[in-house]
Parts: sequence; C-alpha cells; structure tokens
Amino acid sequence: MARILIRGERQLSGQVAISGAKNAALPILAASILAGEGENCLAPIPWLNDVIVMLDLLQSLGLEIETDGVGTVYVRAANLIGWEAPYELVNRMRASVLIMGPLLARLGRARISLPGGCAIGSRPIDLHLRGFHALGAEVQANHGYVEVQAQKLQGAYIYLDYPSVGATENIMMAATLAEGTTVIENAAAEPEIINLAEFLNNMGARISGYGTDRIEIEGVEHLRGTKQVVIPDRIEAATYLIAGALAGGKVTIGPVDTGAMRAVLAKLQEAGCNIVSERDNELTVLPSACLQGIDARTLPYPGFPTDVQPQLIAILTQAHGASLVTETVFENRFQHVPELCRMGAQIKVSGRQALVRGPSRLTGTTVTATDLRAGAALILAGLVAQGETIVTNAYHIDRGYVQIVEKLRALGADIERLPDI
Ligand code: UD1
Repeated sequence: MARILIRGERQLSGQVAISGAKNAALPILAASILAGEGENCLAPIPWLNDVIVMLDLLQSLGLEIETDGVGTVYVRAANLIGWEAPYELVNRMRASVLIMGPLLARLGRARISLPGGCAIGSRPIDLHLRGFHALGAEVQANHGYVEVQAQKLQGAYIYLDYPSVGATENIMMAATLAEGTTVIENAAAEPEIINLAEFLNNMGARISGYGTDRIEIEGVEHLRGTKQVVIPDRIEAATYLIAGALAGGKVTIGPVDTGAMRAVLAKLQEAGCNIVSERDNELTVLPSACLQGIDARTLPYPGFPTDVQPQLIAILTQAHGASLVTETVFENRFQHVPELCRMGAQIKVSGRQALVRGPSRLTGTTVTATDLRAGAALILAGLVAQGETIVTNAYHIDRGYVQIVEKLRALGADIERLPDI
C-alpha cells in the first residue's frame, strides 16, 4: 500500500513546474491510432501511471512506441492489428474507452471491457455508444464487453444529452475518417478537447467549432503522423495554487494557460486568495489577509471543474464562515469529506451539496485517498494540519500528479513517501 507522510504547518515558497495535462495526453495518445502512416511526436507527456497503462494498451494493439525518457513519446500506428481493450487494462484506467472511436474509424471494429462503477460515480458510456450508433456502427454488449462494428462510418448529426468530455472526444475521433460531415451538438468545450482537435487537424482531419458546443467534422480518407504539443495541466496547476494559498509564502507556478483557469481563479480570488500574474504563462500566489467562505458549483467547462472540487473544499476548511459547494457533474464525489472531518474539518454533506464551516484547526492522522483528486485534497489538508498526516492508497494520487512529493518538498513542505506495506 503506497503511503505519503506530511508533517504540516511548514511555509511553502518557490516555483513549481506544471506538467503536460494528463486529460489531454490520454486522448491524444489514443488518437495516434488514427495515423495510417508516419510517426506522431508528442510532448510533454506526463509520466504517470495512467499514461503508462495507455502506452501498454497501444503496444498491445501493435503500435510501435519509443520515448526519450524526458517527456517526448513517438508513436507509429501503421502496423495496427488489435481491436480489443481487455478487462485488466480498462479496470486499471477508465480512459481506455478512448481507443474505441479511433479503432472503429480505422479498423471498423473495437471491443472493450465495459468500465464498471468507479469511486466517483457510476460513469456509464451510453453517450459514446449512442454516438457510434448514429455514425452507423452496430453496438453489442455481451459478457461484460461491448463491441462496435461498421463497414464504413457515415457522418451524422449527434446531439449529446450531456456535454460529456469522453463522449465528445470519442465521437470526434471516430468521425474524422467517416464518409461525409458529422455535427456534435451540445459538445464539451474543455481545453483538452481543443488540444485533441488541433492534433487531429494537424494529422489531416477537418474539424471546426471545437471549443464551442457545436463541433463539425468533415470526414477525410486518411490521417498521417505529426507533432503535437500537449497543453499544461490546469488541474495540477490549480492544486499547487491552492497549496500556495493554504501554506505560502510566495508560490509561482508555470507554464499555465490562465485563460483555461478563469473559473478557478475567480472562485479562489472571491475566497480572498491573493493571486497575480507577473509574467505570461505564470501565476503567483501571495499570502492573503484572511480567507472567506464562498459558494461554488461544479459545471462543464467553462464552469468550475469537478476535478478541483475536493481541493477547493480543503482550502474552504480554512476560510471564515460558511461555504456551500454543489457537485453537479458526478453523483458520488464527496468521499474526501469524511476523511477531512477526521482531521477536524466541519463539513456536512446532503445529496450533492457540502456545507463547510470554517476555519477549523486540522490535526494530522491516517486518512485514505479514495480517488485521485480526493487524495490531492488530503495532501493539501496535511500541509496545514498540526502534526503528521499519513495518506494511504496514495497510488491514486500518482495516477494524476507527476512527482508530487518532490515538487512539494522543493517548495519547503516536509513530505515523504513511506515504504509500501
Ligand atoms: C473527464 C476527465 C475527468 C473529469 C471529467 C469531467 C479525462 C481522462 N477525464 O472524464 O478527469 O472529471 O471529464 O470534467 O479526461 N456520462 C454519462 N454517459 C456517458 C458519459 C458520461 O452519463 O456516456 C456522465 C458521467 O457519468 C458524469 C458526466 O457525464 O456524470 C461527466 O462525464 P464525462 O464528461 O464523460 O467525464 P469523463 O470523460 O469520463
């Protein structure tokens, strides 16, 4: 069992380098399948467990992969032979479902283990499958696997009941090689979707409207390898900003796309965080006089990201007054709350809302990371807690944060990994 120990109440200061975005790198790696010729050169790819699972998966399909060991990954997909994502891999990483669209487009066939319930909600893939069906694929589910097949995909009008990030990505990738034009209405508009669409266009696709709720894809005959820069991780950036606001000092993070972080910056500033941009692509958080309780609601982009909700709750435990946080994206995403309460936080959950009363004096204890961002929230709480906090199941955190222990230690945190038990 991976564990991280934090001795709290140390002041943080210094610079943090933000890694390439996990949620952009994963779909971009999956989209590499679409290149029938040439090589894709992708960077900076964050060296995370989820990325390693995706690379294993791509290799199992026959893709040739090389890395330079410092963040560049080269992928050749000319020899694609496999069309299946087995249980072992989908179970380790839900984003494995993102290979479906590219496989269906290139081979006319894909088979994946159905992702089960995961810690932050049931997370079905019905919108992905309805999109494939609209493009002319036959969809069959048997024995815990779902299989999609089509002779040739046909462009279609697809309305998403919800702007799902994964469904938008999967359908957009499938439609690149379809015959005719596809429209995705009520599409997700996350920065990671823009990064993926730009990559697909660099490979030869014809996609417009990305970054809005209406994406149009004109099918092309084939795609070829190209170079792609992966955007900085806005969720990692938000986590270190909150660390600085909680325990700084002066903490500067970069590179960041500040435009992609407007909702997070607005809510942190509303709570009294002193955040300034002294240089392009950088943000600095300075000590603030006093944090105040705020209300916040998670929403699809450009709303406040659900992936920062647990970290927001961690900082709101230190704000004066009451805060009401409403989670609208996932139905079961308050699992960090009981753990924070064990550290002394005063939080009540009712349905999709959490009422936080602060400020609370947090004290260190052993807590469990139930998922990636819940784990990040517990580390943040540990930074301000009195005494020692041990976060168990820390492997969840390593799925999404490159070298979190090393990065926080460089800022002055007293943090270390404990030997696995
Ligand atoms: C992606 C991100 C994840 C983030 C989430 C929301 C990646 C690899 N992961 O996940 O970190 O928390 O966006 O910003 O990019 N839904 C359905 N049917 C579907 C698909 C989704 O009902 O077919 C529901 C989900 O259960 C959830 C909501 O839609 O309640 C949002 O999910 P979605 O946007 O698809 O998230 P992911 O792409 O899985």
